[in-house]
Amino acid sequence: MREHITGAVQFVSNNHLKFDRPAQPIDALPDPGQKFGYVNKPVPQPPTAEVLAKLNTPEIKERCADLLSRYPVGQAALLEVLWLVQGVFGWVPREGIRWAANVCGCAPAHALGVATFYTMYNHAPKGKFLLQFCRNISCTIKGAPSLIAYVEHALNIKTGETTPDGLFTILQVECLGSCGNGPMMLVNDDFATDADGDVLTMKPGTKLTTDSIDRILKWCYAHEDNIPKHDVLGGTVKGHCGHPGAPGAIAKPQVADYAPPSPVLNVKSEADETGATLTWKGAPEFTKIVVEKKNGNDWVAVGEPGVKDKAFVDPNGKVGDEYRMIATSGERVAKPSAVAVTKQKPAPEQKAV
Ligand code: FES
Repeated sequence: MREHITGAVQFVSNNHLKFDRPAQPIDALPDPGQKFGYVNKPVPQPPTAEVLAKLNTPEIKERCADLLSRYPVGQAALLEVLWLVQGVFGWVPREGIRWAANVCGCAPAHALGVATFYTMYNHAPKGKFLLQFCRNISCTIKGAPSLIAYVEHALNIKTGETTPDGLFTILQVECLGSCGNGPMMLVNDDFATDADGDVLTMKPGTKLTTDSIDRILKWCYAHEDNIPKHDVLGGTVKGHCGHPGAPGAIAKPQVADYAPPSPVLNVKSEADETGATLTWKGAPEFTKIVVEKKNGNDWVAVGEPGVKDKAFVDPNGKVGDEYRMIATSGERVAKPSAVAVTKQKPAPEQKAV
């Protein structure tokens, strides 16, 4: 990562901060990856029609509809829809990212930002066995760098590269969430600290060593023609229930009032001779706000300020009256705000003459 950041900074300072230079076409600019190595070496993109033909199938459409039904807004399903694209291609072509953005109703630029933020998304084809080594603090302390160097030497490739036979790719990634077993690695979707006969293992108390890496590589060679088929939504990650959308996962489709919008915050009411003036803090997602006033045991609607308004006046309001506000976002209704008891509005300060 450090090399990439250094490369990017040098790239920007060399080429973009010299405003007196004429603009160069992007292809003419030096490629920092050539000097500092690639995590995802740029690859030719498949034709749009080919990508869309593989994604616009009844099975994938059904899967997307199911995923979208589990979240309050389409954008929230983006990670899983991108994962679905990766399940189809083994990586995420640019046109697949655009397709995912379209499915989730968000901007392609946002989807590209998400897809390039997480190392779990591949932007170039990878080897049959993707070996991902954690380089985060716990695993580094426990010896990850020497193990990464060992496997790079054993496969005669550097991090980010794929062996010429297309079998292995090595990546270094951030915390894999299994720090207690570190140094940790993933072989495709599976944690592995060893291989025992026909299975990869991660037994409690065992840790990755150069010997166990040898056994894992041997296991990979033995399974070269028969890689265990994984569900594209990650349902087979060892010891986990998988993603909410994975077949057999226990997550239920979204219920209508799950994740309601935030309530109106900081409601205050102050009264003077013009009535009670309410102020509040709203959220950009609000599409409607209703002001209610306590009347005996009931709450009665007294007004509907605009969602961008900053104040509302109840001409009949007086000190002691209680108000609350209820926001709506589309079909979803927020909890009522905290109740505001009307106070006397302070008299304006008299300026000394
Ligand atoms: S630091 Fe390596 S798995 Fe968490």
